[in-house]
Amino acid sequence: MTTEQRTSIHGQWSTRMAFILAATGSAVGLGNIWKFPYIAGENGGGAFVLVYLCCIAAIGVPIMMAEVMLGRRGRQSPINTMATLATEEGRPQFWSLLGWMGVLAGFLILSYYSVIAGWALSYVFRTASGMFVGATADGVGSIFSQFIASAESLLAWHTIFMVATMIIVARGVQHGLEKAVRYLMPLLFILLVILVFYSMTTGYFSEGLVFLFTADFSKITTGSILIAMGHAFFTLSLGMGAIMVYGSYLPKDTSIAKASMIIASADTVVALLAGMVIFPIVFANGLEPGAGPGLIFKTLPIAFGQMDAGVLIGTLFFILLVFAAWTSAISLIEPAVAWLVENKSMNRIYASVWIGIATWFMGIGTVLSFNIGSNVKWLDKTFFDLLDNLTANIMLPLGGLFIAIFAGWLMREQSSRDELASTEKGYVIWQILVRYVSPVAVMIVFLNAIGVF
Ligand code: PFF
Repeated sequence: MTTEQRTSIHGQWSTRMAFILAATGSAVGLGNIWKFPYIAGENGGGAFVLVYLCCIAAIGVPIMMAEVMLGRRGRQSPINTMATLATEEGRPQFWSLLGWMGVLAGFLILSYYSVIAGWALSYVFRTASGMFVGATADGVGSIFSQFIASAESLLAWHTIFMVATMIIVARGVQHGLEKAVRYLMPLLFILLVILVFYSMTTGYFSEGLVFLFTADFSKITTGSILIAMGHAFFTLSLGMGAIMVYGSYLPKDTSIAKASMIIASADTVVALLAGMVIFPIVFANGLEPGAGPGLIFKTLPIAFGQMDAGVLIGTLFFILLVFAAWTSAISLIEPAVAWLVENKSMNRIYASVWIGIATWFMGIGTVLSFNIGSNVKWLDKTFFDLLDNLTANIMLPLGGLFIAIFAGWLMREQSSRDELASTEKGYVIWQILVRYVSPVAVMIVFLNAIGVF
């Protein structure tokens, strides 16, 4: 079969916009609003943010283009896409392992992602109950500590989020998702802007900006460079086949370069806005920028408790955060679901239920790592920290490295030119980035982090 005739058995996006919305839905999630501020805080701010931005531009965008391109050419789940393309390009079959690693990474990430999304879900109700009105920073902090100390509550919210995700995945990607992303994402953006205005009133806005945007390189370590790079992959949903599988539903005539740049820019703007909201609140209330995964839950409720219409805005904000997490969660298991449908002739409903149950079990480890099991450590890391490190800082960059090598070196130039259909200049820039810049950068950061030099 020629690539012209190949279509996906799972359907196709109705328009280019539908793809951009779905991929933006995958990219924008807890990574931007929950994770970016706390890792920026833990790693000293400005210099970390700068490294992260460089990684997005020089590694993230070209690898995103490569991933979409491979997906659209293969038109199947990442495992089968890689197997098909490897055959077509005369390369060994073991390239399908790239798809397998992605399936595993997606499963591991979703297991903890769902737990954190459960926190956000519970905060919808907490905020709506008026519990934070007029609360002090100490009060908000102790509400959070009590919450995560209860394994039962975390488990209950994790369960609710997982069930909801399974229902959406079972129904198929296109149903409803496109429309919801189209309206809710802009609304999330508007709420973030409103919150930036609140942060301007704290009197510590400039401290926040200085922290976020002035690079003090003495605070940066090889470890934090690895985290910044890993986060560039995580936040853009790269390296595990999520964007590849979305690319497999993409119509032939869409410009991959333009779409990738739009998605990466939207994602970056949301993360930076979140940072601009959080850090002024941190400094105004004498909190620690390095407070860890609880950072947004210890800061934002203070703002909601003080601002006019804070209950309404806060409730809406957490609803939108949960929604953003949903649209990302869906993409985390879509590669696995697509594979089960293709190879095991399972229907989507069965496939989603099985994966959902397995992920739910795995999530129990993360639930316990915040309470009963918080002292169970390996290499000085809790279960949650280990999972997060293994997936975001190792598996995703490794996946991205192999995607870059396959797309840049092993695929015939004619194939990638044909798919990208860009101008000569655009193609050459992409080729340099994907052949040299991204793989070399990922390898240097890896070797550095494991102490080779
Ligand atoms: N990009 C998502 C976020 O920033 O929250 C997380 C994510 C989704 C990572 C899908 C990886 C992925 F494949």
